[in-house]
Amino acid sequence: MSNRRTFAIISHPDAGKTTLTEKLLLQGGAIHLAGEVKARGQARRARSDWMKIEQQRGISVTSSVMTFERNGVTFNLLDTPGHEDFSEDTYRTLTAVDSAIMVIDAAKGIEPQTRKLFEVCRLRSVPIITFVNKVDREGRPVFVLLDEIADMLALDVSPQMFPIGMGGQFEGILDYASGSVARPEGPSKEFQGQRDASPELPEEFAEEAELAQVGYPEFDLDAYRNGDLTPVYFGSALKNFGVTELIEAIAKYAPPPRPQPAGDEQISPERDEVTGFIFKVQANMDPNHRDRIAFMRQVSGTFKRGMKLTPSGLGKPIAVHSPILFFAQDREIADTAEAGDIIGIPNHGTLRVGDTLSEKNEVRFTGLPNFAPEILRRVQLKDPTKTKQLRKALDDLSEEGVIQVFYPELGAQHIVGVVGQLQLEVLVSRLSAEYKVEAGLEAAPFATARWVTGEQKALDEFEGFNRANLAKDRDGDLVFMAKSPWDVNYQQEKNPDLTFSATKER
Ligand code: G4P
Repeated sequence: MSNRRTFAIISHPDAGKTTLTEKLLLQGGAIHLAGEVKARGQARRARSDWMKIEQQRGISVTSSVMTFERNGVTFNLLDTPGHEDFSEDTYRTLTAVDSAIMVIDAAKGIEPQTRKLFEVCRLRSVPIITFVNKVDREGRPVFVLLDEIADMLALDVSPQMFPIGMGGQFEGILDYASGSVARPEGPSKEFQGQRDASPELPEEFAEEAELAQVGYPEFDLDAYRNGDLTPVYFGSALKNFGVTELIEAIAKYAPPPRPQPAGDEQISPERDEVTGFIFKVQANMDPNHRDRIAFMRQVSGTFKRGMKLTPSGLGKPIAVHSPILFFAQDREIADTAEAGDIIGIPNHGTLRVGDTLSEKNEVRFTGLPNFAPEILRRVQLKDPTKTKQLRKALDDLSEEGVIQVFYPELGAQHIVGVVGQLQLEVLVSRLSAEYKVEAGLEAAPFATARWVTGEQKALDEFEGFNRANLAKDRDGDLVFMAKSPWDVNYQQEKNPDLTFSATKER
């Protein structure tokens, strides 16, 4: 069976994702000093103008991949941007994982972004391990937390640990499986490996710990893997509690690479042919090269460097000479990769989000949708001689999935669509910094967009009547620009033979 575990951490900003990531990487020996992830992150952030937005807002716009090994298991941790504006990007990243860790702040419980990301996981039955973080601080009572997770997420919870007090009273964490308690040590009260194998628990905690164990469902591997039950771990990323147990849980319970949908078919990781799909394209990871990295989630086969793969969007094979594996310390050139691994493929815009790559060019992975934008803006060029540069820039950025671009059938102004406000700021900064195009954005008289499909005759008729509200997307597909949701319903009723779709799969 595969020793790959490809997962993401989902959480609300500030719950402790960065701190936990750092500790997980330390466990894997991937980095040597806590703090390095953040420090390197900051160095990277200084590199280009648009990344300043990240810095100012204190959020992470880019997402990356960290690969590390522990006890013979290879972990691929995909970072998801935590800001709610980037739900589309995050969604796509979550299509590339087999499981997720949900980090919850013990004092705050389930927060809005946690919930939203959880729903995305649920859509795809991605199994979740819960980590209740910051028990070294005052938090909500354990039972309140467990019930909140169960009620708000409609999920069975199965506690695997029990914190002995929180905040000032924190005395360690009981692990049900071993019956031992991990104890805080020294002035920093960190966990340094001291486990109490036959602990004497204060009576109230002993009772509560037992109640929690018998009062909730037992761990059930199938229920977990179906996404119906979540095992709950308690800990402190900052003080290193619960981290080992968490990573061992992923190694032991989290699913190895799962089959991926390709139309009616499921492509098994056992298939000999190398197949994969692009879930993310990122520019400027290396400021010295104006390259783009396409992130491919490998679905099957054994990839070897130099191998020829055919991107579905291109039709002719490309040789992948310098694939990148994302070991946490540095980018490393990969020689081989297995199902479940993420490969970075440098390219100049040939590879796009949603593309399938394969040896035989027969498979097409499905389930990586574009979402109808909720904010639409007209792009206003400050220097009209830069039309060509603008078009190129918009095409590039839409390829990366930063924005969607629409070319109206009437009128010359391009329209950009996003699902979150922040994407617009990124767009304007990057146009200026990378393409030397100064542009402003003005309100467009549209509220949303729908992809329109149907029989040619019906389409032609519809086009004839609605030209002022029609545009083509980057692929040349027809898009109806709606003034309001009501407008969408109205057109749908008037044109029952056409389909107005809020998502488009490529
Ligand atoms: P995020 O990536 O989910 O946004 O959270 P991050 O790890 O950056 O953590 C947010 C804050 O919570 C940080 O404090 C971090 O030190 C703190 N934190 C994380 N895990 C724990 C924990 O287990 N216990 C306690 N007590 N605190 C924790 P900060 O003051 O905002 O940042 P910093 O200046 O300490 O880096």
